[in-house]
Amino acid sequence: MTFLITAGPTREPIDPVRYLSNRSSGKMGYAIAGAASHKGCRVILISGPTQIEVPDGCDFIPVETASEMSDAVAHWLPRADVAIMSAAVSDYRIKEYHEQKMKKEDGVDELTLTLVKNPDILAEARSVHGFPGLLVGFAAETENIKENAIKKLERKGCDLILANDVSRPGEGFDSDLNTLLAFYADGEKELGSHTKEHLGEVIIELCDEFLKKK
Ligand code: CTP
Repeated sequence: MTFLITAGPTREPIDPVRYLSNRSSGKMGYAIAGAASHKGCRVILISGPTQIEVPDGCDFIPVETASEMSDAVAHWLPRADVAIMSAAVSDYRIKEYHEQKMKKEDGVDELTLTLVKNPDILAEARSVHGFPGLLVGFAAETENIKENAIKKLERKGCDLILANDVSRPGEGFDSDLNTLLAFYADGEKELGSHTKEHLGEVIIELCDEFLKKK
């Protein structure tokens, strides 16, 4: 059994010294990767920059931008039975990368950066690459969790969406704890509030259940 897992933030460069990114630590994705590897599965971990150690036994593919992550996923996806997209991918990138450091100018008090949309890696797994395996996405929400998660499940064509409320104090981004709800075509399940390590194991068990039904 081979798992492809995306994790961490992406970085979208503005100029040689600046980038756009987000607060993802990568902990949730690495915990899933560790749990799958511990069960003897092959794990391809495609990750943006993080401060954490790669779990033992994983094939590690480091990337920086959403485009690089998208290319790496396109390359490795045909080898996967299960794809879990936990990365916090930047939805937009800078339209024009500045080859030299942008200098502040006298009299310029406001600056507008133009952004263009990045590929939706999760949605393209099925719509572009026709991935036939089990496709799992995350939904990071701050309000209307259930409604938004179900919309994402349908819009991105995945089998399972794991939703978390990133506005809960002490949880989500950069924390060791998380609360997850799973949504799928014919139901939903509370995975509860646990350490990300434990949730990693719960998610691998849930994938096993879904693979048996598929
Ligand atoms: N995702 C992705 N590629 C993107 C954006 C998101 O693969 N360009 C994946 C994430 O890895 C996650 C899921 O899509 O599995 C949902 O990500 P989320 O940030 O919650 O949603 P968005 O698609 O960014 O939608 P919105 O910003 O409207 O909440």
